[in-house]
Amino acid sequence: MQKKGFKFMWLMVTAMIVCFLTAGAISGKETKDDMCIPMGDIELKAPDSVESIRPSVRFPHSSHFDYSCKQCHHTWDGSEQVQGCMTSGCHDLDQAPKKVKGAKSDDDIQYYKNAYHAQCIGCHKNIKAKNKEIELSVSVMKPKLMKTGPTGCIQCHEE
Ligand code: HEC
Ligand code: HEC
Ligand code: HEC
Repeated sequence: MQKKGFKFMWLMVTAMIVCFLTAGAISGKETKDDMCIPMGDIELKAPDSVESIRPSVRFPHSSHFDYSCKQCHHTWDGSEQVQGCMTSGCHDLDQAPKKVKGAKSDDDIQYYKNAYHAQCIGCHKNIKAKNKEIELSVSVMKPKLMKTGPTGCIQCHEE
């Protein structure tokens, strides 16, 4: 927790935080470190170096726990601390990279905004598309529509 403490200044967890020992601590290795899982809402903000255009985004972390942790924390090994998305070497570009001819400007996933948009909007849109298929299907035994999250700008970047 200690080495991660500063991170929570901008994470601004508004609800409970649940902590447990990581595998390292359980097996008595040197990494005696708790991992704390923010429950409830996490505020997702642009890095300090960015003058943001849009308001920050409320992310209800625990509404997403039907998914595997690794669905989002895709580099997590299951025993070490979960790293933030903008950790150095990950989605740590704070500006859109220069456009390469032929490539779409939202291709570069190292740019934090593209990473968030691809993951958050991508999944919500996928579910919407599947629901649309269900709605349009003529079958008698239609499965129930799935819950999904926002895909519109101001639904996420709320004032
Ligand atoms: C739908 C995506 C998603 C799922 C599923 C998810 N998380 Fe997260 N989690 C996030 C995001 C986004 C953050 C904020 C990361 C940041 O600030 O860079 C976060 C933050 C965290 C943090 C704090 C990281 C830090 O920087 O200190 C921990 C710990 C964590 N998650 C653990 C978990 C665990 C354990 C699970 C599975 C039960 C899980 N998460 C499932 C998206 C997810
Ligand atoms: C793998 C799929 C997936 C990913 C990735 C994902 N979501 Fe969701 N999201 C969902 C589903 C499913 C729901 C509906 C959950 C429910 O209502 O029980 C949801 C609901 C939400 C809601 C509304 C629910 C509430 O409790 O208010 C918000 C806001 C949201 N997501 C934001 C985000 C953000 C921001 C990210 C990226 C950091 C993200 N989501 C990533 C699947 C996903
Ligand atoms: C599912 C949630 C979600 C939706 C929908 C969404 N965004 Fe974002 N957006 C984020 C997250 C998370 C970030 C990273 C945190 C931040 O910078 O606020 C972000 C970052 C940004 C940024 C960079 C930071 C800034 O404010 O300058 C811009 C610009 C932006 N989004 C614009 C948009 C626009 C325009 C739309 C609609 C086409 C949109 N977003 C839709 C979640 C979303």
